[in-house]
Amino acid sequence: MTNNVKILFSEHDIKYRINEMAKEITKYYSNITEKLVLIGLLKGSFIFMADLCRRINIPHEVDFMTVSSYGNGIISSGDVKIIKDLDEDIRNKHIIIVEDLVDSGNTLKKVYEILELRGPNSITICTLLDKNSKRMVDISITWIGYSINDEFVVGYGIDYAQQYRHLPYIGYIINMHS
Ligand code: IMP
Ligand code: MG
Repeated sequence: MTNNVKILFSEHDIKYRINEMAKEITKYYSNITEKLVLIGLLKGSFIFMADLCRRINIPHEVDFMTVSSYGNGIISSGDVKIIKDLDEDIRNKHIIIVEDLVDSGNTLKKVYEILELRGPNSITICTLLDKNSKRMVDISITWIGYSINDEFVVGYGIDYAQQYRHLPYIGYIINMHS
């Protein structure tokens, strides 16, 4: 099932890039006195989150949220429903939203607005992949692993119909039916 994926970023590439991002994040938050929380959006971010948090060398908490987009499923509409909320309060904490892939940006913008209302000290966004040619809303992303073209990718947590998440690399499906 996995020999129909053409590798775009190898396991080695991803590890190296995440190391770089984690160093920047560590430096950015090195002088804070309030708590730092990484908030992963499920399910896509679970592997990225696991690798990223283990490279960040300052104390922090992790929490997860699952949201679903209303709409036809192809283009996210920007109306998001919280399926699983955070376990902890984020008031006065510094939070980093950790996302696998930002496409239109609709989902992330909505999540940002929801979390902002809860009074965190600061919010930044960290995404592994960015398809910025598809952006429909204005959002500022502080850390981007890779900018990619508008092609459908899978692996490293990212799915096609719930499959392919386990691949240690990121790639394109070259034949959907094989
Ligand atoms: P948007 O930014 O609200 O349009 O939605 C981004 C979400 O759409 C991502 O977090 C993925 O769940 C999904 N998505 C967008 N592009 C891809 C892709 O190439 N492969 C798999 N999922 C994708
Ligand atoms: Mg996602």
